Amino acid sequence: MIKVRVFNGPNLNLLGQREPGQYGQRSLQDIMQELEQFALDCGLELDHIQTNSEGKMVDAIQQAGKDEVNYIIINPAGYTHTSVAIRDALLAVEIPFVEVHLSAVSSREPFRQITYFSDIAMGVISGFRGESYLLALQAILNRIEP
Ligand code: DQA
Repeated sequence: MIKVRVFNGPNLNLLGQREPGQYGQRSLQDIMQELEQFALDCGLELDHIQTNSEGKMVDAIQQAGKDEVNYIIINPAGYTHTSVAIRDALLAVEIPFVEVHLSAVSSREPFRQITYFSDIAMGVISGFRGESYLLALQAILNRIEP
């Protein structure tokens, strides 16, 4: 069975309360439940991790390598614009990944237009609020279905 693991970075545990104009009104739990159901309906194994810590994210990505995860969906949140360590972890495990953002990062502040991930990602989905994750999973499905 194809295994997909979703990684959510700092402050995404506050979705729903946090800047709803940017990130929408839905909680992370609600978005992940919908994604898990979609994965189940499509016959995929999907789980998810949220952490506010860069080191924990690196450890969890290394663990995904050991767990033989096939695809990663990652919203590195604030670390998108800063983290060489998370980038290096993704390169080390060689698991193809989709970079996801709820907000349209390319039309926000200039510092958000720099990402340490997009050049090594399968692709980037940004700006569709919680739906961005579903679109990322659909993109993965399109690549594994004949
Ligand atoms: C985000 C965009 C980042 O710039 C920001 O720091 C986040 C969330 C998004 O999903 O739109 O925390 O990754």
